[in-house]
Amino acid sequence: AKGLGTELVGRKIICYDAVGSTNLLLKDMARQGAENGTVVVADTQGMGRGRMERAFFSPPGKGIYVSILLRPNFLPQDAPKCTLMAAVAVARAMEKFGLRAAIKWPNDIMHDGRKMVGILTEMSAEMDCVNYVVIGIGINVNIASEDFPEELRPIATSLMQMKGEPLPRVAFLQELLRALDALYACAQQEGFAPVLAAWREYAVTLGQQVRVIGPAGESFEGMAADIDAEGALLIDTSTGRRRVLAGDVSIRPK
Ligand code: BTN
Repeated sequence: AKGLGTELVGRKIICYDAVGSTNLLLKDMARQGAENGTVVVADTQGMGRGRMERAFFSPPGKGIYVSILLRPNFLPQDAPKCTLMAAVAVARAMEKFGLRAAIKWPNDIMHDGRKMVGILTEMSAEMDCVNYVVIGIGINVNIASEDFPEELRPIATSLMQMKGEPLPRVAFLQELLRALDALYACAQQEGFAPVLAAWREYAVTLGQQVRVIGPAGESFEGMAADIDAEGALLIDTSTGRRRVLAGDVSIRPK
């Protein structure tokens, strides 16, 4: 895109003051044929959606709520890797602003044990072929602790709290889209291995004793050993190695 300097991501960018959810909106547009690389960004969301049916706090004037449409030519089982790719893109953008990211598998970016960024990837596939992937990224940019609802204060933080000063939202979004464009181009050419290698550099989950809570609420503990080529987390438990493709991970003190 002109100005942004990207190849694909942000060829078309649609900005809103307020939406329900940028992911929902972009999924509708995708079904109606929106082109590869389309980006929807909103200043605030009334119904920001998170993983596992949770809400994502999206107040006006303080965050980045963005969704990116990709129409990749890979198999549905490759789609979870888009989530890891998005987390790396956020980490790269943070680096431009002097911040070092810590990624908790698969997609949360953390500071002081609290979450600053969440990513929700949604996909539509037919007959083993990906129709579209919508990557939704929510970033707490300039949200002060007291701006969060009380129940979120112990678990949520922001880039501003990490840096000690506010960050420019538009400039951050531009860096994010550039980083994502570069990573996606690389993944299309060389596959996801370099993206996964980059993810490992920022991972705080690996090598830690963790508790995993699966999508159905089942849970177990073990040592997070690595991620595999599909982006699944490999956990060594007392009864052997387990592979986790979806779920929540909490890092437990040893
Ligand atoms: C999570 O941490 O559970 C994922 C949060 C994802 C939030 C983003 S904000 C932009 C996009 N639109 C949504 O409704 N959700 C994602």
